[in-house]
Amino acid sequence: MIDVIRVSDRAAGARVVAEYLIPRFRDPAPVAIGLATGETMVPVYRALVATLAADPRGAGAHVTTVNLDEYWPLAPDHPGSFRAFMERMLLGPLKPYWAAVHFLDGAASDPVAECRRYDALLDRVPRAVQLLGIGVNGHIGFNEPGTPFTGRTRLVSLTHTTRRRNQDLFPGPLPAQALTMGIRDIMAAETIVLVAFGAAKRAALTRALTGPVTPECPASVLQTHPAVTVIADQEAWAAR
Ligand code: GLP
Repeated sequence: MIDVIRVSDRAAGARVVAEYLIPRFRDPAPVAIGLATGETMVPVYRALVATLAADPRGAGAHVTTVNLDEYWPLAPDHPGSFRAFMERMLLGPLKPYWAAVHFLDGAASDPVAECRRYDALLDRVPRAVQLLGIGVNGHIGFNEPGTPFTGRTRLVSLTHTTRRRNQDLFPGPLPAQALTMGIRDIMAAETIVLVAFGAAKRAALTRALTGPVTPECPASVLQTHPAVTVIADQEAWAAR
């Protein structure tokens, strides 16, 4: 079941996502949330931080985070790493909330062993919410077109499209590979929130929501999940 919330612009969309997540932060019950990175998440995390920092009700180390992906090979403290992005945008500013924060290790010397470690972690930590962006080619996490829906955490080669786009946000030469949670584990989250802003996402989002369910558009798998909310601005989702 996919519920689409269409908003006027990014700022409005970011507020809607923050409002969706805030009850999980306010409620002292332990909760695990899957987190995403990328440009789309910048206003989302800013909105979350603005609200929670202004009124830190519920702060008390009960939120566990599990990030989706990471470039490989890349030191976790490299400014272009997803870990560094998360520290800057969310983890640092909201320190009192975290019970544990989990990342794929971009510096792992044995990526296969690192992926198995993450699979075991994902089995142990069921996520109540998985936050997702979408690639212009329909990828989710770094699961590029052609990825089987049953896949688990693994090392992937980034497509030309993804590399060209992500290079703009990355200081220095972008790694050609990445470690990513697989589609099977993205789909294991109880609820999924996919955020898409801007005209560049329109074709991928349209395919994902209205096209055939096929590995050629990885995000199309969401049509088979019981509880997906899509938050898209007017550019990314045409009125219908
Ligand atoms: C990136 C990330 C994804 C992200 C997507 C969209 O490559 N691996 O997790 O959701 O592509 O990124 P952006 O928000 O920068 O457009």
